[in-house]
Amino acid sequence: MIQKFKYGHPFETEAVTADLPLSEGTPSVGEISLTEGFRFRCRLEKNDIAYGLGEANRGINKRGYCYISDAADDPEHTEDKRSLYAAHNFLVIAGSKNFGLFVDYPAKLTFDIGYTRSDMLTVSCGEADLYLYVIDGESPYDIVRQFRKIIGRSYIPPKFAFGFGQSRWGYKTKDDFRKAADGYRENHIPLDMVYMDIDYMQDYKDFTLNEENFPDFPDFVKEMKAKDIRLVPIIDAGVKIEKGYPVYEEGVANGYFCKREDGSDFVAAVWPGYTHFPDVINPEARRWFGDYYRTLTEQGIEGFWNDMNEPSIFYTPEGLEKLTELMRKFVDGKTDEVPPFYIKYVIMNLANNPKDYASFYHQAGGQKIRHDKIHNLFGYNMTRAAGEAFERIAPEKRFLMFSRSSYIGMHRYGGIWTGDNKSWWSHILLNLKMMPSLNMCGFLYTGADLGGFGADTTRDLLLRWLALGVFTPLMRNHAALGTREQECYQFEGPKDFRHIIEVRYRLLPYLYSEYMKAALSDDLYFKPLAFEYPGDDMAAQVEDQLMLGSEIMIAPVYTQNARGRYVYLPEEMMFVKFMPDGTVYRKELPAGHHYVEIELNEVPLFIRSGKCIPVVDAAESVERIDMGTLQLLGYKDAEYLLYEDDGVHKDYENPANRKLLTNS
Ligand code: GLC
Repeated sequence: MIQKFKYGHPFETEAVTADLPLSEGTPSVGEISLTEGFRFRCRLEKNDIAYGLGEANRGINKRGYCYISDAADDPEHTEDKRSLYAAHNFLVIAGSKNFGLFVDYPAKLTFDIGYTRSDMLTVSCGEADLYLYVIDGESPYDIVRQFRKIIGRSYIPPKFAFGFGQSRWGYKTKDDFRKAADGYRENHIPLDMVYMDIDYMQDYKDFTLNEENFPDFPDFVKEMKAKDIRLVPIIDAGVKIEKGYPVYEEGVANGYFCKREDGSDFVAAVWPGYTHFPDVINPEARRWFGDYYRTLTEQGIEGFWNDMNEPSIFYTPEGLEKLTELMRKFVDGKTDEVPPFYIKYVIMNLANNPKDYASFYHQAGGQKIRHDKIHNLFGYNMTRAAGEAFERIAPEKRFLMFSRSSYIGMHRYGGIWTGDNKSWWSHILLNLKMMPSLNMCGFLYTGADLGGFGADTTRDLLLRWLALGVFTPLMRNHAALGTREQECYQFEGPKDFRHIIEVRYRLLPYLYSEYMKAALSDDLYFKPLAFEYPGDDMAAQVEDQLMLGSEIMIAPVYTQNARGRYVYLPEEMMFVKFMPDGTVYRKELPAGHHYVEIELNEVPLFIRSGKCIPVVDAAESVERIDMGTLQLLGYKDAEYLLYEDDGVHKDYENPANRKLLTNS
């Protein structure tokens, strides 16, 4: 049962697609206070678990910390952080009572989940203008499924997007992209996508190509496609201020950019220098910005990633002005007015400053709305601009699209990647923990920068991370400018990398099938163990293993120098390892705790009792997978419902897409 409450004058975020009647009175759980903004409070029992919050820090069980929905471009994903790039305000409490909360509020919102008081959940925000959805259900899984039903179907990418992708900030010329593509092809390491980071553009201008490096871009797109490799360009939120640049000129002429209080276009510095932000909240401006994706789809591009859309601000002219003034005073010896630490403080707070977010406006429904009141909707609506445009450009076709910032609702238009992580072992585990939480909030097409974005990776770290990435729908190696080269062929023993990535392609029919079944029935691709084994107390505590689809459990290695790991089996399972010589090791293990050995070049998974999964021969691209080589792996006489389609179009309901296979 879902209750929907309205407080004050909420902004219509369109996160929820179902038309639910408003409930009278007060929620069936917790107590509401409207004296200072909005506050929901509810007691937690000792063993209650908190699930959800999507892209948030810390555990699968969110209890014991404080999380703030306030989309932020912060590349330091350390444990103390309360806000990352997204705002996913869906939480499920499971235990003595089960209930879900979705707080549809697009500004800053705090979830204190047993942080101030270990036995208290407090959800609060500054203004009582919101919709609150309270979901009752028999289990956390049931609550999640009810929630997923009301927010609409998750985004479905084309099948090639389930292949492996290589990315690096710093690729500039055709030869840089060719080098990456050829490095993979020459080493026979499978590859389907090469990502184009900001340097493909002319002066970081959206929807342009560097004139010197890409005079004949459509031919280059074709050249790569002939190798079964798609180029996937980045699009940033800020539009460069430059006379004669059509996106800038049209945006200004039509009033499509976010504006300051006085009606002038708001200015913020990002990669191109000073930019304006397209007002993607305004449907007309959103349509205009979205139509620009056509400039690249017309040249053969089939996928994009949207970035810097929190939106990220390096600084504003106002911020710089204030700093300059302070520095002048300091230089003039007025240190009583300007203590040295204060300059440092102002410098550190130039970027993403709340004052800047409170100084510009959107147009929505004929109304002017201050950005900070709907801050968390920017990435959502930038990606929606693209998603809506794809429907106009080629309604029958699927495009690859994922974003950095997001809000629930955006899951209908694209996936997300988890932003600027680091080449740290702890970030493999953080990657794993985020996956089921993201799925609960509708984001199925997700993944992290494998190998780590910031800092220098190591061979073993990358191999272990890839062995998790084998299972994440988005499987992409991406690294920052200035870090150690991280393409798989750059390391000693490329055959180990080939093997791990080949396993992705061997499992692709299964992973794709499970993704599609999850998307088409508003279900989860990744689940915490407790969702499948509700009565099992031990399963409820597992934070480093996941259920994937209905057949398997994954338990990657995420510690340095480990040669295996402990794993908990809630039931008897078949332990499977894809061995470097192409064979498959299997052993049935009884329920309970086990130590399993896993070498750096082996990919482990566990098949649930009585189940089987399809496996094919390895291929170097999704296109080249031969379904004729399909075999079933797992328990004898088990059945598997395979979902298969052309991976390009949207003929999802065709009965021919589903085949029941038996492992005889
Ligand atoms: C941001 C993105 C990162 C990208 C970089 C340059 O930091 O998160 O993925 O490489 O910008 O565009």
